[in-house]
Amino acid sequence: MRKKIIAGNWKMNKTPKQAVEFVNELKEKIAGADADIVVCPTFVCLPAVVEAVKGSNIKVGAQNIHWADNGAFTGEISGEMLKEVGVDYVIIGHSERRQYFGETDETVNNRLKAALKYELSPIVCVGELLSEREVGITNQVLETQTVGALKDIPAEDVKELVIAYEPVWAIGTGKTASSDDANDACKFIRSVVEKLYNKEVAEAVRIQYGGSVKPSNAKELFTTSDIDGGLVGGASLKADDFTGIVKYNG
Ligand code: 13P
Repeated sequence: MRKKIIAGNWKMNKTPKQAVEFVNELKEKIAGADADIVVCPTFVCLPAVVEAVKGSNIKVGAQNIHWADNGAFTGEISGEMLKEVGVDYVIIGHSERRQYFGETDETVNNRLKAALKYELSPIVCVGELLSEREVGITNQVLETQTVGALKDIPAEDVKELVIAYEPVWAIGTGKTASSDDANDACKFIRSVVEKLYNKEVAEAVRIQYGGSVKPSNAKELFTTSDIDGGLVGGASLKADDFTGIVKYNG
């Protein structure tokens, strides 16, 4: 039985002060939840948020990682830096990075290797554009992105991995994939993992759904066969909404 994992991707929102106030409110509301809970603030908020969640059931993730250990990469952050700050998770290959910042399957794979090197738990994002879904190539896109991300990654690391299926057309649009469509896509991604590795690895990897997850649709999404939780954007910025999602089972 895979444990659910619910992560909030705050994107470029909240200052360090706002972030600390927010997690102080959140940690009381979600105490005792039985899913793994992660919040992913911006880099500048990480030290303060790591400190603020101490003693709670909330883990902290970064929103990106560079593949090099250090060097002349202006604006980037390395795994060693994240590790020292006390981060546990890292989001890799979010569609906004792919769309606006030139992220490719190859850079996703390089970042994944860096996360594993520094023993950070990766949340690797994949997902199709609306135009790709409309011409019926969703599975092809998901397969290419998954195979590309996992190139040369050993089975024992993949078992521990979180993959987030985020259809780009559902992100920040209020349009959620139906629970059947989302579950089918997650099931398909799992079948790609099985083809690349084996059934044991495929059964172990956790696959989240992301894209307009709200308290009102979380239960329907998260109680399907292959969706193991959510990667939540907008609704993760409000303590009551995120709590409603985390406590989807009432
Ligand atoms: P929304 O929940 O705002 O649609 O964002 C989803 C997302 O991109 C999480 O990474």
